[in-house]
Amino acid sequence: MKKISVMIIGCGDRATVYADEGVNKLGAMRIDACVDPDVNKLDMMVREFGVPRENCFTSIEGALARGRFCDCIINGTMDRLHVETTMPFLEQGYDVLLEKPVCNNEKDLLRLTEAAKKHNCRLFVCHVLRYSPFYRKIKEIILSGEIGKIVNISTYEHVGVFLTSASFVRGKWKSKKECGSSLLLAKCSHDMDLLCWLNNGTRPSEVMSLGGRNFLTPENAPEGAGTRCLVDCPQEVRDKCIFDAGPLYIDNCLLPWYPWQCTGKDYREITDEEKLESLKTYNPHGLCAYKCGGDICDHQTVNVRFENGSFATHSVTLSSFRDGRDIFIAGTLGEIDGRADDGKLTVRHYDRNTSWFDSRVIEIAGEDGYEGGHFGGDRGLVSDFVSTINGGELSVSATTIDDSVNGQRLVFKADESLEKGVPVKF
Ligand SMILES: NC(=O)c1ccc[n+]([C@@H]2O[C@H](COP(=O)([O-])OP(=O)(O)OC[C@H]3O[C@@H](n4cnc5c(N)ncnc54)[C@H](O)[C@@H]3O)[C@@H](O)[C@H]2O)c1
Repeated sequence: MKKISVMIIGCGDRATVYADEGVNKLGAMRIDACVDPDVNKLDMMVREFGVPRENCFTSIEGALARGRFCDCIINGTMDRLHVETTMPFLEQGYDVLLEKPVCNNEKDLLRLTEAAKKHNCRLFVCHVLRYSPFYRKIKEIILSGEIGKIVNISTYEHVGVFLTSASFVRGKWKSKKECGSSLLLAKCSHDMDLLCWLNNGTRPSEVMSLGGRNFLTPENAPEGAGTRCLVDCPQEVRDKCIFDAGPLYIDNCLLPWYPWQCTGKDYREITDEEKLESLKTYNPHGLCAYKCGGDICDHQTVNVRFENGSFATHSVTLSSFRDGRDIFIAGTLGEIDGRADDGKLTVRHYDRNTSWFDSRVIEIAGEDGYEGGHFGGDRGLVSDFVSTINGGELSVSATTIDDSVNGQRLVFKADESLEKGVPVKF
């Protein structure tokens, strides 16, 4: 495969995952330029991906002044910056791979969609789950007609304790006021996208959503809890608290790129003493999880009606013990049942001879392409993106902006319904 030439905007966690997949794992990309106001990130890009120093910019204006000199852009900035850091590059004719969520309102969604059309650019969204072999297999089964017409799709997202703490309670997405995204937008834009993509022959027509912040509140803090785990919370209270920062961040630290970001140091370089010191003083991950000021929902359900009369539901719960995603699809001729984190699907059909059912289990976890982040979705996305930029056909997973708007709009309408307490029509 011909190597594509990429400029990265926002050299944080996600963009460097894609760079690593494209450059090191697939050998299909060169990172020829990058933009980040944080000069440490630019140094890291020079060191780790060989970006020429003269092509490192601390603002998009510097890169824009050079005109178009790379094949495409990967935009991994935080949620609120997606529109302002994508639009000018579309205007220069760049193809763009943009992190989800595309944006946080319908008006900007339309603006970006129209700009991509006007400037003849391909704009793809990082809805990585579509590229995981697990969800691709489900899509293939639906397209094959094996389960007939879709009657209902039901998905459930369990956000495990560590991810809840690191991202949605103490982390970057804890507050809609600060980050610009609701829980549904930040976490479940993937799931809303899946519901629409799997049911692609139709569009959502109505949605009702319920949810709130009812559990992770100051009133529900364990009795006697302090304000900072390692400073003023009694040991006997910490011993019973699932959010105790000691085991979460010092002993286990399952997602180490999140809790140390505020220290300004690379998580691979920070010392144990520096970690402890930060948790005891300024690090938000050291605060009591129940009292640290988050404002997003801690649970939400979404009910969708589609134009063709089919339905879907999605539920999300923060601080689940198991971290993963379930799916159940009822079709007129069969059903699909699976857990993405187990990498296993069961397809069932009714058996007239026994008046019971027969089932076929499909093991996807061991298959090629399942490794890496998002059940293989990160690598699948990068591989597909490179192929498309090189002139290949769009794959069945292709997250083009045109095919991503339904899921994005579903998030906006669901949150509107949640806020107003009434069903919302499209
Ligand atoms: N696809 C997925 O499954 C998935 C998973 C996690 C996060 N995300 C999304 O990815 C995006 C990035 O998240 P992250 O955790 O990598 O964030 P991050 O904070 O690690 O990275 C963002 C980077 O953007 C830089 N930046 C800030 N202002 C900038 C500007 N004006 N121009 C250019 N760069 C700028 C920051 O310095 C930082 O290096 C978010 O929108 C997030 O919601 C997607």
